[in-house]
Amino acid sequence: MRNNFTVKVNGATVHYNDEGISTVPLVFIHGFPFDKTLWLPQYHFFKTHYRVIVYDIRGFGFSTNDSDTDFSIEVLAKDLLLFLHALKIEKAIVCGLSMGGYVLMNALRLDPDKFSGIIVCDTQCNADSEEAKQKRYRTIEHIRAKGITGFAEEFVKDAFYIDSFNTKKEEIEAVTRVILNTKQQTIISALKAMAERKESCSTLESLKIPTLIICGKQDKLTPPEKAQAMHTLVKNSVIAIINNAGHLSNIDQPEEFNAHVKKFIESL
Ligand code: MLT
Repeated sequence: MRNNFTVKVNGATVHYNDEGISTVPLVFIHGFPFDKTLWLPQYHFFKTHYRVIVYDIRGFGFSTNDSDTDFSIEVLAKDLLLFLHALKIEKAIVCGLSMGGYVLMNALRLDPDKFSGIIVCDTQCNADSEEAKQKRYRTIEHIRAKGITGFAEEFVKDAFYIDSFNTKKEEIEAVTRVILNTKQQTIISALKAMAERKESCSTLESLKIPTLIICGKQDKLTPPEKAQAMHTLVKNSVIAIINNAGHLSNIDQPEEFNAHVKKFIESL
């Protein structure tokens, strides 16, 4: 990716790529535990017709969490809003996948006027159940004891559609490398942030912003029922369930994913 930039916001140094031209930019927020390269198939597709921005969440990729202390999803939401402000962006179409969706829905609650359209993919508006929370804390203990290698392998197994392990070897290797290059402390902070996050369903219920909801039909981490529940909450939202796609539906089926996003943007 060309056009690499950095900006300091909210005690973080944010690395991002910014390319193309349009009045309203299209901003992508990656999921856990990835970085902005998660969006390569979208970045290259959309930059020819739109201004596209991808950024690394604090601690992930090249972005730093300058204080090195734990962060919450709310802090990540403020980072997003301050990042848009620093780039002098008044309104954006923002797309968040999974944890990126949690960040986006929290930012919507804080400042809905910043968004002219939202795309939430392979995510959910619920908070963690007690069981899910406990599972995250067990994962943290496991990572502290054994490091992130085993965690990365297990995570990747669940993140893609089964056929992609044969057809998208390079992409899967790249995603695995991203996880393995992530600081252990960032992974632990993000797991805690997700475990302690508040629900966003009440934000969606009162939402009046055009919304596209995308989910891989075979997403094991945030299955289509979660997408359907959000679709029921957001009046006039559009839902797209992509077949032969898992949690990383934008990598499993990039052409179909991009086509849904393009149609949505053109409808605004
Ligand atoms: C993600 O992909 O961002 C995470 O799987 C979300 C989660 O664990 O809740």
